[in-house]
Amino acid sequence: MELRRIGGLPPYVFAQIDQLKLAARRAGRDVIDLGFGNPDLPSPDVAVDKLIEAARNPRNHRYSASRGIPKLRQAIASLYLRRFGVELDPDSEVVTTMGAKEGLSHLMWVLAGPGDSVLVPSPSYPIHIYAPVFAGADVRQVRLGAGANPDEFFDNLMESWESAWPRPKAVVLSFPHNPTTTCVDLAWMAKLVDFAREHEVALIHDFAYADITFDGYSPPSILQVPGANEVAVEMYSLTKSFSMAGWRVAFTVGNAEMVQGLTKLKSYLDYGTFQPIQIASIVAMNEAPDYPKLVCETYQSRRDALCDRLAQIGWEVPKPKGTMFVWAPIPEPYDEMGSLDFAKLLVEEAEVATSPGIGFGPGGDGFVRFALIENEQRISQAARNLRRVLARPGGLPD
Ligand SMILES: Cc1ncc(COP(=O)(O)O)c(C=O)c1O
Repeated sequence: MELRRIGGLPPYVFAQIDQLKLAARRAGRDVIDLGFGNPDLPSPDVAVDKLIEAARNPRNHRYSASRGIPKLRQAIASLYLRRFGVELDPDSEVVTTMGAKEGLSHLMWVLAGPGDSVLVPSPSYPIHIYAPVFAGADVRQVRLGAGANPDEFFDNLMESWESAWPRPKAVVLSFPHNPTTTCVDLAWMAKLVDFAREHEVALIHDFAYADITFDGYSPPSILQVPGANEVAVEMYSLTKSFSMAGWRVAFTVGNAEMVQGLTKLKSYLDYGTFQPIQIASIVAMNEAPDYPKLVCETYQSRRDALCDRLAQIGWEVPKPKGTMFVWAPIPEPYDEMGSLDFAKLLVEEAEVATSPGIGFGPGGDGFVRFALIENEQRISQAARNLRRVLARPGGLPD
């Protein structure tokens, strides 16, 4: 049988590391998993309690509203006002999605198709690249760069725009950025919004790490830029902020035309998230508004533990201002090895699983990504294991 759309997908690079991890664990070895960005922290108790209560009510067992029940859309509008000073109309500028991934993927279906192109940073979170591909559009990868300098990235974006014909329909963005951890300020966003308004290009900002930021850094919502809602939508997710990954609750907010286009498509595709989950999500946002700060404190101590321990073993890695990741350049003398082979070496010999940078696109080779999903003791153990392997003769410099 000839299957459509999935034929051209490369083998998932991360699966190779996962298989090695599973094989090592089956052999009784204790692999410390800093690979997949799957949060290990619990969801807020108030949300779990509400979920149990709401699940007992048979009225909540029926189909729900595809775009999200009104109080849920109101809760995200209140969060945006409180958190970013952004006013959203819950009826026309908010739609609930089953995670940011689902929102972004289906939004692409209504924005782009064969003959269109979309600008996407390289490296990128994989769905940023594959959502336009699934929609049949061309992807033009724009170098985000090793030093991850936002101004250079802006110039690269402009260059890609100029060299593309027909002009790209949309730009995918996501800051704080996975995997590079690049962060931008409001002035940077404003520059891009100006450009997009002038050239009528859609901006899609995946704001998955809106709340996972450190050292007092506060990331801008693109919608804080005056006039942004003429051209931009943003994905806000409960996954990382409230550590509710498995619940699959996120929102696409902003430009009413795009939000309503996505709402219409989704009304054909789904009947909404299970209603008790929607009800519990309202409670999470309204009654546990400070939960993201607690989550963030945990990631910050883990970030410090990892970067400090790596520095002690001679592997200097910059401390990120945001995300739950550390983006580490492959140290000499391993830098010629490529990220996949280096990540294989780490999992097989140091018993530390990481994500090879190549899995995020060609712009990611030369790096591995550590996800901060194990506690500080385990992170320290990981650093000791890494020292054992990397300090072998010919390994890391003293
Ligand atoms: C940039 C980015 N967007 C989206 C997601 C997934 O979000 P969700 O669980 O809301 O689909 C992740 C998860 O790692 C991510 O890093």
